[in-house]
Formats: sequence, structure tokens, C-alpha cells
Amino acid sequence: MSDNKVHIFDTTLRDGEQVPGCKLNTKQKLVIAEQLDQLGVDIIEAGFPVSSPGDFSSVNEIAKIVKNSTVCGLTRAVENDIKVAAEALKYAKRPRIHTGIGTSDSHIKYKFNSTQEKVIERGIAAVKYAKSFVEDVEFYAEDAGRTDNEFLARVCEAMIKAGATVLNIPDTTGYCLPEEYGAKIKYLKENVTGIDKVVISCHCHNDLGLATANSISGVINGARQIECTINGIGERAGNTSLEEVVMIMKQHPYLNLNTEINSKLLYETSQIVSDHMGMLVQPNKAIVGANAFAHSSGIHQDGVIKNRETYEIIDPAEVGVTESAIVLTARSGRAALAYRAKKVGYELTKLQLDDVYREFLTFADRKKEVVDEDIHVIMKNSNITSAVVA
Ligand code: KIV
Ligand code: ZN
Repeated sequence: MSDNKVHIFDTTLRDGEQVPGCKLNTKQKLVIAEQLDQLGVDIIEAGFPVSSPGDFSSVNEIAKIVKNSTVCGLTRAVENDIKVAAEALKYAKRPRIHTGIGTSDSHIKYKFNSTQEKVIERGIAAVKYAKSFVEDVEFYAEDAGRTDNEFLARVCEAMIKAGATVLNIPDTTGYCLPEEYGAKIKYLKENVTGIDKVVISCHCHNDLGLATANSISGVINGARQIECTINGIGERAGNTSLEEVVMIMKQHPYLNLNTEINSKLLYETSQIVSDHMGMLVQPNKAIVGANAFAHSSGIHQDGVIKNRETYEIIDPAEVGVTESAIVLTARSGRAALAYRAKKVGYELTKLQLDDVYREFLTFADRKKEVVDEDIHVIMKNSNITSAVVA
């Protein structure tokens, strides 16, 4: 394994599925799991097996069909959760149990009415018990984002000694700033004995819109796993968006961080998840939104038609989008109109274009978007009958 490889841990089927109204049945989860396997994610968090018989059976079925990815099941630091997860994962080629407990003062006081020492003891017992079933055990320190770094370092050290292979440092409430989250990872790298034997994982929520920035800051500072979801779906404002972190690392090669994701499947995967969950992707969503490669203002369109790179940093083909879209609106210029007219068969002379453009503007002022059928009407209104129709 290269030191620069960042493992992609997809939690669309666990944290992502916690979105109200987005519940999936087992059949739908299998379709998504197969797609994630093909996409090249390193780990699929398939569910929380103890939470319901349905989730147990989904994890169990997913474990049977996934060929390459590790299949992971979530648990609390509770013996029965771990036993049930191990049972659900028994057919997985590469099983992982993800166990953990809250470590922030607020979780220790209000959720557990406990003490730091007792929380560490529960964590150790959970990791050791999980280890009796599988080799690969990930420990999460819930609300690590608001956990004091010194205490967090003690927790991490104890979990490494107990046998954890991955340490998840969740910013559960999406509170951290990128610098702060990065500094937390750096602190752990520098202050935890044995840290180089394990993978540090970033699990960032998006309450302040910082999940992607925090995850990237985490890997810049030494973490080597990012927990994320397709389309950034998840509890409240969502999780880190898989497509965003993958493309950030790809578009910034000097970071020297890479993943094994087949980026050409990103758009298709986004659509599959959106369709099955019945959750539309916001049009301006980075990488996979309908407008991510659409240009509608005259200045931008003119630039993109001359050379795509003037206004696009990603070749749409890289993420599986067929081509950049030149959208015709009342803000579009002659270059865009000529470009789209040519696509539907009209090669216009400069004089013709001047006439047609006047007609186009009148038309476009009445409509949000001018589509191919409208172009034919505009041509007819402009008496363009002699144009070459492809
Ligand atoms: O956000 C979080 O802390 C979690 C853990 C259960 C990993 O989802
Ligand atoms: Zn989470």
C-alpha cells in the first residue's frame, strides 16, 4: 500500500441512509453496494446490523455479493451490537467491525453520565471483543471534533493497544474549522504511541458547510481514510461528499494523495443513489449537479466554446458527464446561439446570425431556457429555410 493512498470509506448505506424519508429496502441497497464496489471504494459501511432485522439482512446480503471492497458494520461499544455485526458480516471476504463511543465532555456527561476513565475502559472492551471475531476493527471516538486533544490522544493510544486497525476521528457535529481539524490529526500523529501502525480516518459532517474542507485538511495532515457519502447525503446537513474529495485530490496532484476511485463512474453513481433514495441532487452541487458543467452567460459561453478550460477545471468526461452544456437563455450571446444552432443543423452566415439573434432575444425574454425545438421555431420566424439541415 502506498503511503499516499487515501482509503475511501463510503457510508451512503449507513450514515447516508439516516436521512429522513430516504430509507432503502435490501434490493435497493444491493444495487448501490454493487455500484460502490465497481466505483472502487475501499470500504462499504453497509449498515448498523443490530438496529433492525431489515438492516441486519441488508448487511448480510451485501457481504455475500461484494467482490473487492471491505464490508463494514457499525456498532456501539456494546457486546450484543458487536456479536450481531459479526454474524451479519460472516460471509464478507473482507469484514470490518466499526465500534466506538462518545469522547467529548458533553457526550460523557449527558449521554453516558460517566467518566473519561470508564469511557476508555468501555472502548477497550469493545475493540477487544470485536477483535475476537474479525482482524479489521475500526474505533470511532464520537464527537472527536469537540473532544480535548490530550484526552483524545489517550483514547487513541488505548485503542491501538487493544488492537484497533483504524482510528476514526469524527467531527460529528460539523463544528471544526479546517485548520482546527487538521491540527487535531497532526496532534494525534505526533503524540500517540503506535499511531503509525494504524490508519487515521476523517469523518466530517457538514453543519457549517465545511465537511469537504475538513476532510481534505485531515488527509493533508496525515489521515489516510475519508468517510463520505455519494452526493454528500447524511444526517442533518449531510456528510463529506465522496465525489468532491475524490476530485479535489485528483485535480491537485501536488498534494500527492491518491485514491483508487474510477472517477468516470461518479455521475452514474450519483444518479443511481438519487433515484433510489428519491432525493434530488441540487443543481449547483459540485461535480455531479445538473449545472456543474453548464454555462449560460454569454461571456462564459464564448470562452468555453473557444476553449473549455477557460471556465472549467474538470473535463466532464472525467466524471462521466458526456459534455459541457451550453444553455441558451436571455443572457446568452451570438457565439452560443451559433454553436447550438449548428448542433441542430443550421450553419448560419454572420448576417443571418444577426437577424436570428434579434429574434432569439425576444423569444428568450419570454422563456427561462431556449431548447432545441425552440431553435427550429426561431429559425422559421427568421425565414431561415435555406440553411443546411444536418
Ligand atoms: O458522526 C459520527 O460520529 C458517526 C459515528 C457513529 C461514526 O457517524
Ligand atoms: Zn456520522
